[in-house]
Amino acid sequence: MRRIPPVVLILGCLLPCAVRPVRLAAQNRDFAPPQADFRADALLAQMTLEEKVGQLNQISIGSLTGPQQTVKDGDELIKKGWVGAILNAVTARETNAYQKEAVEGSRLHIPVLFGLDVIHGFRTAFPIPLGLSASWDPALVEQAARCAAGESSSQGVRWTFSPMVDIARDPRWGRIAEGAGEDPYLGSAFARAYVRGYQGERLDQQISVAACAKHFVGYGAAEGGRDYNTTEISERTLRDVYLPPFRAAVSEGAATVMSAFNSLDGVPASANPFTLTQVLRREWRFRGFVDSDWTAVREIMLHGIAEDERTAALKSFLAGVDMDMQSGFFVQYLSDLVRTGQVPAERLDEAVRAILRVKIALGLVDHPYVSESSAPDPAIAAQREALARKAAEESFVLLENRKVGGFPLLPLEAKPGRRIVLLGPLADSAVDMLGSWSCQAEPADVVTLRKAMSESAARNGMRLSFTRGTDMPGKSESGFPEAIEAARHADIVVMALGESGLSSGEASARSDINLPGNQEKLLEAVVGTGKPVVLIVFSGRPLSIAWASEHVPAILMAWFPGMQAGPALVRTLFGEAEPGGRLTVSVPRSVGQVPIYYNHLNTGRPRVDPIGLGSTKSDPYFVTGYIDQTNSPLYPFGYGLTYTSFSYSPTRVSAANVSAKAIDRGETRLTVSADVRNTGSREGTETAQLYVRLRGTSVARPVRELKGFQRAHLAPGENRHLEFELGREQLAFWNAEMKDAVEPGSLYVWIAPDCAQGTPVKVELTE
Ligand code: NOJ
Repeated sequence: MRRIPPVVLILGCLLPCAVRPVRLAAQNRDFAPPQADFRADALLAQMTLEEKVGQLNQISIGSLTGPQQTVKDGDELIKKGWVGAILNAVTARETNAYQKEAVEGSRLHIPVLFGLDVIHGFRTAFPIPLGLSASWDPALVEQAARCAAGESSSQGVRWTFSPMVDIARDPRWGRIAEGAGEDPYLGSAFARAYVRGYQGERLDQQISVAACAKHFVGYGAAEGGRDYNTTEISERTLRDVYLPPFRAAVSEGAATVMSAFNSLDGVPASANPFTLTQVLRREWRFRGFVDSDWTAVREIMLHGIAEDERTAALKSFLAGVDMDMQSGFFVQYLSDLVRTGQVPAERLDEAVRAILRVKIALGLVDHPYVSESSAPDPAIAAQREALARKAAEESFVLLENRKVGGFPLLPLEAKPGRRIVLLGPLADSAVDMLGSWSCQAEPADVVTLRKAMSESAARNGMRLSFTRGTDMPGKSESGFPEAIEAARHADIVVMALGESGLSSGEASARSDINLPGNQEKLLEAVVGTGKPVVLIVFSGRPLSIAWASEHVPAILMAWFPGMQAGPALVRTLFGEAEPGGRLTVSVPRSVGQVPIYYNHLNTGRPRVDPIGLGSTKSDPYFVTGYIDQTNSPLYPFGYGLTYTSFSYSPTRVSAANVSAKAIDRGETRLTVSADVRNTGSREGTETAQLYVRLRGTSVARPVRELKGFQRAHLAPGENRHLEFELGREQLAFWNAEMKDAVEPGSLYVWIAPDCAQGTPVKVELTE
């Protein structure tokens, strides 16, 4: 076997840093108290080589094994101290039982860390993360994450594989459901909120869990939207778009990061010294540990940069992965690799220290067990339900609300005697409301739309009838006649259509993003009855619903709302709550527009400049675009209607000229403001968005970029003055010399209700 001299690999890690000086990150929030370092070092000093390597091994219960080991070996491994972390244990009994083997059975009594995919709730199911992001409400997400942390840590699961902070510009990719959408600024705000929620003020609080920012990095750019696929991202785009949410999570103190499956410019992300060592550890000074994704170390062989297991372990470990999830390669090969000098002992100590620090910071070393008898408190359970309902209401995006009989169709009036017909395969499907990664959520806890609607109908004297009409994915039309007949006798038809809960998430890419099966055909037939139709779309990704957007008067995007789906929807439909969401992803007209994102470059031949800037006198034919489709999305990023209306004053800026250097040095900032008024007759919440565009810079900048947002709850007629600050953090970008700097040029800024509206104001960024 050909061995790569360690010095070559280490140089590979350091080289890019050596040739290009980088601006080191500001101090991160440290998740560990100062004594964690001493304690980690004290433990380290007592450990054998094998015990150290054992800390790097993460195995799943059920298999309790790397590929080479049997279940029995798994138990033995724990006792020998050769297991650092376990995933997929979910109850206090299970975690305590494994913990006993580690703490009482192993020589140094080092506890194992239990990790799990607590993605949008543990037992309390919140909306899927894409839905949560539509709230544009990081404080709400922080509360949801705190609730999930409390539930999971009560079972001994002190580490969640969340947040997923991958930027996703391609709705074919099923994992778009798991993140906060397409924007790095918004994604960073949510990354920070999740970390704060999971980790709390202190990691050693009983209800805190360690966060894991994943999947580092570029995973969301999978070619063709196919999960696990290759990614090609320039360094500038990587730094400007894909890295910022990770940077935000790390600066907020995220204790761990998960390395991704994809290859990035030919180098697998789980063996990538540039991203894992140069960026994460050197530039950002990350002091937590890097966990590989599931068997990602093994997959390096399939990527083709290692021909055997030993080399896969070597490359991945030297590149910066500290813990090996489920390949079992680190535990098999690293001791020998250290003995033969191929892996420096210091690198091993660095990884073990990082893992021990997290365990110590969590308080695990002192309190390894959890109580198995805590009975759920009904008052807390009710609070969690209320939070789940609020989160769902804030996630709903009202896409259409046309007038029927002179008034917007929504909100509906709960009039006695009203005949409401509920149709569609998702109206009464509890399990689908949970979406993917439903963790310990129980379908029995879900209140479906049908159930909540029946209760509301009974309370208000309305008559409700329900029929599915079709199934999912829906081939048979045998249910159509009954559905159409029911619609004919309705005053209002509510249709619950969309994807099944598992049509998005891991390994769930779609080559089309329409309403699956014959649902659109059913929709067309029902709309053909002439009755007013409210369409509720459930899905884990934006769907191309061009026909519906033209023909259905009211459309509500509901994502997968979680356990309180029904009550949240009924309250929203009947106006007790407002649909609080705004899109965090562009909704394409057709799959052919993908990838589609609002912050694209202008090109030299734009069809139209999205904000009317610059000369666009190009030939109307030879422009970027399609001959059979417009370029604009069906619904733009930031979009969402409300039950009231808002007006914006012109955007104002604190100065017409400002020195780029002064901003870059942090000496000055620009204030941007506008007044927002509720011009309707109902109270409502507006989500004001600040966009910028830079011109005259050394590299082309996007046609618009989100750089601030504020939610304002306003009574009818109420006016609110909103101010935003623009400083280095918002205006620096990775320039032609690949430095993040604020450059002189023209800055356009505007405050608007979504990315497609607003009038820019110009500010000169002087030398
Ligand atoms: C694979 C997924 O990519 C990752 O997101 C998840 O955390 C791990 N499996 C563990 O379940």
